Amino acid sequence: MSFTKPFLKWPGGKFKLLDRIRNRLDSGSRLVEPFVGSGAVFLNAGFKKHLLADTNPDLISLYHHVQNKGSDFAEYCQSFFTPENNCEKRYYNFRKQFNSTSDLKYKSALFLYLNRHCYNGLCRYNSKNKFNTPFGRYKNPYFPKKELDAFYEASKSAKFIHASFIDTMKKARKGDVVYCDPPYVPLSETACFTHYFSGGFSWKEQIELAEWAGKLAKKGIPVIISNHNTHNTQALYKDAGATTERFLVRRTISCNTSNRGKVEELLAVFQ
Ligand SMILES: C[S@@+](CC[C@H](N)C(=O)[O-])C[C@H]1O[C@@H](n2cnc3c(N)ncnc32)[C@H](O)[C@@H]1O
Repeated sequence: MSFTKPFLKWPGGKFKLLDRIRNRLDSGSRLVEPFVGSGAVFLNAGFKKHLLADTNPDLISLYHHVQNKGSDFAEYCQSFFTPENNCEKRYYNFRKQFNSTSDLKYKSALFLYLNRHCYNGLCRYNSKNKFNTPFGRYKNPYFPKKELDAFYEASKSAKFIHASFIDTMKKARKGDVVYCDPPYVPLSETACFTHYFSGGFSWKEQIELAEWAGKLAKKGIPVIISNHNTHNTQALYKDAGATTERFLVRRTISCNTSNRGKVEELLAVFQ
């Protein structure tokens, strides 16, 4: 089966796990995703309505521009993808402008430019919330026109909100299905793991998420959570009332390229 690809590169994106996740998503009237990221699940899960949220304001602002302006905005974004703009000097200049501009349309177009020209598509910010991923040195960065068009079409059935996961989960109603893809727990104490917007995601938040999933399931709203399979995540989700399924996945982003191998993932199903 062929899937629709997201237009953004996104660390932790679930494109490669779609078969597994889709098998686990019950049918429902609306898909709620508190951690939407690149939208790989939303684009392919086959729901008619979607509530899609993330705490990264730059990501949600970009989605609003794609949704509201369609091909005009896509053309504007494409104008940044030129051979002259694919060099270190221009990249760091655009990164600086991204971090200082108050023009939201320009900022959103730059977010897509940075995503496709930066190192490994990493979306990394410093403690002052300034985007700081280095230049990626790609020969010819791909402009995702086809993927943007597909996202625009799919966005007609979606509402995008900038919200933390608890606020999104509070909005879930009977008939909804909730898919949660939080930032991964580290595989070990010393593991260097992907940084998302501002400060990562603590173990306390992983616990709160599991508790909320248990609460929603009790109200008859099914919730699925993805994460690394570790002793801690297995225990956490089982204690909160889930059944779990584990499987091996080839990892594509690692801080240390020699560590690119297979890791165990799990899906926790609360229903
Ligand atoms: C693993 S990624 C989701 C990937 C997504 N499923 C995909 O296929 O692209 C986790 C997402 O959670 C977001 N995030 C981090 N902390 C959050 C929070 N407290 N509430 C909501 N979203 C959060 C990050 O910005 C990131 O986009």
